[in-house]
Amino acid sequence: MAKAIKHVAVLFAGMMLGGSTAALAGGPSDDKLIIDDEMEIITRTAAPEGHPLDEVISGWHYRTKETRALEADSFQNPGMLYVERGEEIWNTVDGAAGKSCASCHGDDGEFLKGIGANYPKWDEANNRPINIELQINACREANMEAKPYKFDAADQKALTTYIRHQSLGMPVEVDLTQGDMKSWWDKGEELYYTRTGQLNLSCATCHEDYNGNYIRADHLSQGNVNGFPTYRLKQSSMVSLHNRFRGCIRDTRAEFPAAFSDDLMALEVYVTWRGSGLSVETPAVRQ
Ligand code: HEC
Ligand code: HEC
Repeated sequence: MAKAIKHVAVLFAGMMLGGSTAALAGGPSDDKLIIDDEMEIITRTAAPEGHPLDEVISGWHYRTKETRALEADSFQNPGMLYVERGEEIWNTVDGAAGKSCASCHGDDGEFLKGIGANYPKWDEANNRPINIELQINACREANMEAKPYKFDAADQKALTTYIRHQSLGMPVEVDLTQGDMKSWWDKGEELYYTRTGQLNLSCATCHEDYNGNYIRADHLSQGNVNGFPTYRLKQSSMVSLHNRFRGCIRDTRAEFPAAFSDDLMALEVYVTWRGSGLSVETPAVRQ
C-alpha cells in the first residue's frame, strides 16, 4: 500500500513538472459552448443520483481557447469531414443483399435522432450491452450480408461519428433498467476504481482525484464520453471510445483489454452514465 501511494506521488510529481503555476491554478473554463451561434450544448449539469461528484463537466471546458473555438464552429471543426464521409457510407450499397443503411432506415437522419444519445443499450439476443459500433456490425451482417468492420476501420469511425452527430445537443441518457444493464454498471464501476499497471493508477485517480490538474501539458478532465468519437488534434484524426479507453489504460503501463471485450463494454456503460445529462458533442475536438 505504501508502495502504491509512493508510485502515484512520483508519477504526478514527474508528470506535473511541465505545467506552469499559472496553468496549475486554472480550472475548467466558464465559457458556454454554442455551436454556430445557434445550438447551445449542455456542457455542465447536476450529476445523477449516486455520482461521486456534484457536477458533471464536459471535457470541452478543459481544452484551450483555440481548441474550444474549433468545436464551436462546424466549418472549422475537422471532425465534420468524418460526419460527411459517414453520411456517404450510410447511403452506399454494400454486401450480398444489395442494401445500404438508408434502404431500411431512410436518408434524412430522422431515424437516427436520439439514438446516439441512448447507447449503450441492452442487446437481448446476445445477453450483453451493445454500442453503436457493434450495432452497425450487427446490421451489416444480418441485414446487408456484408462483413463486419474491424475495430477502428476508417469507415467504422466515420459511420459511428455520423450516427452520433444526428443527436448533437441531445442529453446523454443510458437506461439502466434494461435487461442486466445494472450488473454491467456495477462491473464498470469496480473497474473504474481498480488500480492497475506498473503505475498503479485507476481511472478515478486521474479523472476524479486529480481532475482539474495538469498531467504533463494535458489538463485532466472528468473523462466523459459525450463527444465520442472525438477529433484529436494530436493524432489529426478521429479517435473511437474504446481506443481512448485503451490509451488511458496503456498510460498506467497495464496490459489493455481488447476493444468490445466485457471489460471495455462495462466501462462504456458506467462511464457513459457518469456523464448523464451532458449533450452529445460528436464530433468533439480534443487535444
Ligand atoms: C434490411 C434492413 C436493414 C438494413 C440494410 C440496415 N438495418 Fe439497421 N436495423 C434494421 C432492423 C430491422 C433493426 C431493428 C431490429 C434490430 O436491432 O435488428 C435495425 C436497428 C438498427 C439500429 C438500432 C436502432 C435503435 O433503436 O437502437 C441502428 C443504429 C441501425 N439499425 C443502424 C444501421 C446501420 C448503420 C446500417 C448500415 C450499416 C443498417 N442499420 C442497415 C434493419 C436494417
Ligand atoms: C494517468 C492518468 C489517466 C488515467 C489513469 C486515465 N486517464 Fe483518461 N485521460 C487522461 C488524460 C491526460 C486525458 C486527456 C485530457 C482529459 O480530457 O482529461 C484523458 C482523457 C480521457 C477521456 C476523454 C475525455 C474527453 O472529453 O474527450 C476519457 C473518456 C477517459 N480519459 C477515460 C478514462 C478511463 C475510463 C480510464 C480508466 C480505464 C482512464 N481514463 C484512466 C489521463 C488518464
